[in-house]
Amino acid sequence: MRPAAIAATGLYTPPHSISNEELVEAFNAYVARFNAENAAGVEGGVIEALTPSSVEFIEKASGIKSRFVVDKTGILDPARMRPHIPDRANDEISVLAEMAVKAAEEALERWGKPRDRIGAVLCAASNMQRAYPAMAVEVQQALGLGGFAFDMNVACSSATFGIKTAVDYIASGSCDAVLMVNPEICSAHLNFRDRDSHFIFGDVATAVIVERADEAQAGWDILGTRLKTQFSNNIRNNFGFLNRTGDTVAGHADAAFAPDGPATDKLFVQQGRKVFKEVVPMVSDMILEHAGDLGLEASALKRLWLHQANINMNEMIGRRVLGRDPSREENVIILDEYANTSSAGSIIAFHRHSDDMTAGDLGLICSFGAGYSAGTVFVRKRA
Ligand code: COA
Repeated sequence: MRPAAIAATGLYTPPHSISNEELVEAFNAYVARFNAENAAGVEGGVIEALTPSSVEFIEKASGIKSRFVVDKTGILDPARMRPHIPDRANDEISVLAEMAVKAAEEALERWGKPRDRIGAVLCAASNMQRAYPAMAVEVQQALGLGGFAFDMNVACSSATFGIKTAVDYIASGSCDAVLMVNPEICSAHLNFRDRDSHFIFGDVATAVIVERADEAQAGWDILGTRLKTQFSNNIRNNFGFLNRTGDTVAGHADAAFAPDGPATDKLFVQQGRKVFKEVVPMVSDMILEHAGDLGLEASALKRLWLHQANINMNEMIGRRVLGRDPSREENVIILDEYANTSSAGSIIAFHRHSDDMTAGDLGLICSFGAGYSAGTVFVRKRA
């Protein structure tokens, strides 16, 4: 068994940010328009009037203040409420691969070693833009890398599943170094006309290089990785080739709602309360058990880089794991600025808030989400 280390990370942040105020203004304009257009139906009790959203609710329920997106104008147009992301020709790089390459370039530069040492590229993300060829192979080609590449989707947990896959390849001798990328265009799968969830997600891309520890010059030793899945219908996205964009579900309430876009169940849907109640104990118990099996005191963890789901969920998991109210420095929060960025959230937190730590410091990268799925990666800062 050859141990592995996280040798470098990279981040690409799209240029456009949407504040809660801007998002709510667009949503409420859409609501006013919908209610006016359907006044007769509302009056007659055939159509339910829509209710406005509020900035205060969003910040209190989620901790989110803004989100980055690849296109702002389409999302904020009350007549559209979804991003403009034009199709690209097959000889152009795809949007997802382009973002991934930008994050990967930063990771490769920080790593500073010859690219031919990378033996595999994993594109681990939840919002894949096509079935095949794999985005990972496109990224591999754009970066001039050898070896092999493939896509993997474990929703918000994709990054820790990707790290574990890389660690296993290194342990078995399949590769000496693996590049994992997490490009997420969550805004294309978010229903901006749904009051309960229109504020949740943002777009971003992250990259991680995992390398055999005896060759890594700096970074973080990976002490242990663990994955868990448990079926749940509480977070779903039914989008796929059997139900193409533009179709609506027979009898579904949204038949009149989105003739120009995907039906609502082909976008993100969740039972937020149930997710909160079921995932917090599942993840906290998993972290504590894994720490115990590694002979680590969870309370000694210097930093938690958790999946950026929402502030209340993250604070509750942090409290259960550390056995006290963690400070913001201990339990890193970046979702106020980025929102939930699915698989990339814990990696953004790690990328932006780990350079200040000292040799021997212990930390945890942890993700959780649809499936349900969860992954834990315990790390120790190298000398
Ligand atoms: N603006 C204003 N009010 C809103 C609103 C909005 N955008 N959305 C919902 N509300 C209202 C509801 O109508 C409800 O009103 P009522 O009490 O009069 O019925 C009230 O706020 C509470 O709604 P609810 O949906 O129960 O909110 P919540 O407190 O459970 O918070 C989540 C919603 C999604 C933020 C919360 O459930 C959560 O964080 N879940 C975890 C799931 C998660 O993060 N998943 C991401 C994938 S891992």
